[in-house]
Amino acid sequence: MTHAGPFPLSAFKSGPLRGRFRVPGDKSISHRALMLGALATGRTRIRGLLESEDVINTAQAVTALGAPASKSGDVWEVLGRGTGGLAQPAAPLDFGNAGTGSRLMMGVVAPHDIAVTMIGDASLSKRPMGRILGPLKQMGVEVDENRERLPLTIRGSSRLVPIVYELPVPSAQVKSAVLLAGLGTAGETTVIEREPTRDHTERMLRHFGAEVTCVADGERTRITIKGQAELEGRDVTVPADPSSAAFLIAAALIVPGSDVTVEGVLINPTRTGLYTTLKEMGADIAFLDEREEGGEPVADIRVRSSPLTGVDVPAARAPAMIDEYPMLAVVAAFAKGATRMNGLAELKVKESDRLAATAAGLAANGVQAEAVGDTLTVHGTGTVPGGGTVATHLDHRIAMSFLVMGLAAAQPVTVDDTAMIATSFPEFRALMERLGARFGEGLAP
Ligand code: S3P
Repeated sequence: MTHAGPFPLSAFKSGPLRGRFRVPGDKSISHRALMLGALATGRTRIRGLLESEDVINTAQAVTALGAPASKSGDVWEVLGRGTGGLAQPAAPLDFGNAGTGSRLMMGVVAPHDIAVTMIGDASLSKRPMGRILGPLKQMGVEVDENRERLPLTIRGSSRLVPIVYELPVPSAQVKSAVLLAGLGTAGETTVIEREPTRDHTERMLRHFGAEVTCVADGERTRITIKGQAELEGRDVTVPADPSSAAFLIAAALIVPGSDVTVEGVLINPTRTGLYTTLKEMGADIAFLDEREEGGEPVADIRVRSSPLTGVDVPAARAPAMIDEYPMLAVVAAFAKGATRMNGLAELKVKESDRLAATAAGLAANGVQAEAVGDTLTVHGTGTVPGGGTVATHLDHRIAMSFLVMGLAAAQPVTVDDTAMIATSFPEFRALMERLGARFGEGLAP
């Protein structure tokens, strides 16, 4: 998808943020619900699907593969084709900005006798795909000209061979692509993971009736799927996205006098690293009414503005908060003392090089920070001068993180483009304004 624009926006110092809100559905779970719905037989009904550009691209992709996804009332329905039942699409599949959509879909199409051309925007076309294509090629997939970036054409096969694959990087996307390919492959496919990454694929595969086992093997976990099982269409409820909730929660922490509750947020332990870190920094955050929704743990998260202290964030926590580092770095600028974030190699290959983009955005707003190797250190003083313009590099999370900064900085903070926010959290601005946040189009006066 291409956008007009750019659409710059400035954020201004705001009064206390208050209210009780729900943020839209989790992006990771939304992609997976559409894909597994397409691979199941019969009808899958999805409540709370995130209707962002990334997820809509996945809905269009499964439709083009012969499993129509459409909305009826409040519910999305997918008419599945059964394991191995997807059809040759008539045109290239456009994933826009979506790493998850494109990478998981490589695993979905792999065990089919079809050739699928995948395209994406300028950001996605720079991102590494070799990490997914490597194991899929071991299984028997072919890629035209051995390309490792979009655009590319992947040729699947109904006669893939199962593999045992140890993840070279802690990536739920790689794990998921191999498991999804394994679902359509005779025999058992195993992924070995050294550090736990988000486990929504394993949970949802089981929910749809697949046999997935997780066995501890020393420090590692072996995740095995039994191939060519028939999945059955199911009802799925998507919890609120903790990565979107993070922006409201961070804003409430740094704007004095704030008191905000975000309802029904996913608190799967593979996703809550930010909340653990914020509590260590002294944040007043409570998980209320913990319960289960659609096979995932959720809670209402209440947060009140709090004085914060810098901490060391261990590298082992990175997979559980990988999308939240830009937001944490901004919060760390309002804390007293140094916050050291370790083990950030994967941050360099997200929608932008988030390590560089975050460090540059902090510097543009008068915050002392340095990125050295895989570590980002932010020297917080409790106040942030602001007054800078941040280059967002087609990255939604860079845009939202620095808009949050502007709500508590001395001078307004401007981001050079907000178009990409629609890829994950189209309601961001409206929800923040309902909380009491102040924004203005274009550059700050
Ligand atoms: C995702 C996994 C993460 C994350 C991305 C969503 C997923 O990527 O950054 O936003 O849904 O599996 P990696 O697994 O590549 O780290």
